[in-house]
Amino acid sequence: MDWTVRVAHSDLSFPCGPEESVLEAAQRAGLDIPYSCRRGVCITCQGRVLAGSVAEGGSVRSAAGGEPFQALFCGARPRSDLTVSPRRVSRLPAAGQPREVAARVFRKREVAPGVVALHLRFPIGVRVAFRAGQSLELLLPGGLRRSYSMANPPAESDGVRMHVRVHPGGAFSDALLSGLEPGAALRMALPYGDVRLDGGDPRPLVLLATGTGFAPVASILEEAVRRRWTRPLVLYRGGRRPEDLYLPELPARWARRLRGFRYEPVLSRPDGAWGGRAGRVQAAAAADLPDMSRVQVYASGGPAMVAASRESFTKLHGLPEGDFFADAFLPSA
Ligand SMILES: Cc1cc2nc3c(=O)[nH]c(=O)nc-3n(C[C@H](O)[C@H](O)[C@H](O)COP(=O)(O)OP(=O)(O)OC[C@H]3O[C@@H](n4cnc5c(N)ncnc54)[C@H](O)[C@@H]3O)c2cc1C
Ligand code: FES
Repeated sequence: MDWTVRVAHSDLSFPCGPEESVLEAAQRAGLDIPYSCRRGVCITCQGRVLAGSVAEGGSVRSAAGGEPFQALFCGARPRSDLTVSPRRVSRLPAAGQPREVAARVFRKREVAPGVVALHLRFPIGVRVAFRAGQSLELLLPGGLRRSYSMANPPAESDGVRMHVRVHPGGAFSDALLSGLEPGAALRMALPYGDVRLDGGDPRPLVLLATGTGFAPVASILEEAVRRRWTRPLVLYRGGRRPEDLYLPELPARWARRLRGFRYEPVLSRPDGAWGGRAGRVQAAAAADLPDMSRVQVYASGGPAMVAASRESFTKLHGLPEGDFFADAFLPSA
């Protein structure tokens, strides 16, 4: 039996089966609510349940006494009709629905120790619309799925560029990637993710990236160059050592092409030769911007950095929850 999920303060509602998450049902109904990991870790999908009961993480919670509670919609399954209040909700644009597509390896090169840049192209005539900052899922043999962010801007819709961290023993990044030569075929589904950044928004946009979290940031900043964004943009980029800050020519290009762009590389384990900033990216951003009430933030990369940024910026620096966007690069389940 399906339950009905109503979205508070709107005329939106959708059916949701007992074994379906509120997020899955909303997406099936063509509605877009925030999400990233879909595994209960990143808390991007968190919103309030104003009425009804949900099963989540092995327990059932109810707003029956009139007390709303917070739930993660990627895991919450209805146990009654619900009224929910997601952080944002909108109707999905038609082009935003994920679709499966084949692609072939066009180029592959190691850009840093343990990081491979992979450029795949779709068949001639095939283009896939996505927004800067979104991700794809590789559909691998044995039913395995692996998430990667697009590093190319949406205008380059005839293929995808990825920055792949090689994990020893990784089903994709270790076992499969080493055998992928130009011309090799891969299937994928895209686009996924909820990042919505508007070049016309006058507020400063603060970008934080660690490791291969640089990939979605590259997509956003290449988009900014193409669309001539004028909003202030600052990138805090973290790594352990200088070689982790791969493709240094990209920030240099953005500094030349984007009037409002500033680049802040930050190393957590610098050696004596490093003359730049040391520490964590989120600490550097918070030191520069103690009042974040009028900025937007996008953070991508290590889950610990994403969680610490969200906690510190929203609780201590006045960043509205709805202006924090993130992709936590979690290992696949
Ligand atoms: C929305 C999203 C976007 C992502 N985008 C990117 C991206 O652009 N580039 C990128 O490199 N990764 C990205 N990731 C992370 C990537 O999907 C995972 O790291 C994935 O598990 C790698 O697959 P694999 O087959 O290489 O390794 P697996 O077979 O999944 O894992 C092999 C071993 O490595 C460990 N491991 C795997 N990934 C991680 C990790 N991230 N942190 C710590 N240990 C790990 C596993 O626990 C396991 O022991 C993204 C993840 C999400 C959710
Ligand atoms: S916790 Fe639900 S999308 Fe990440």
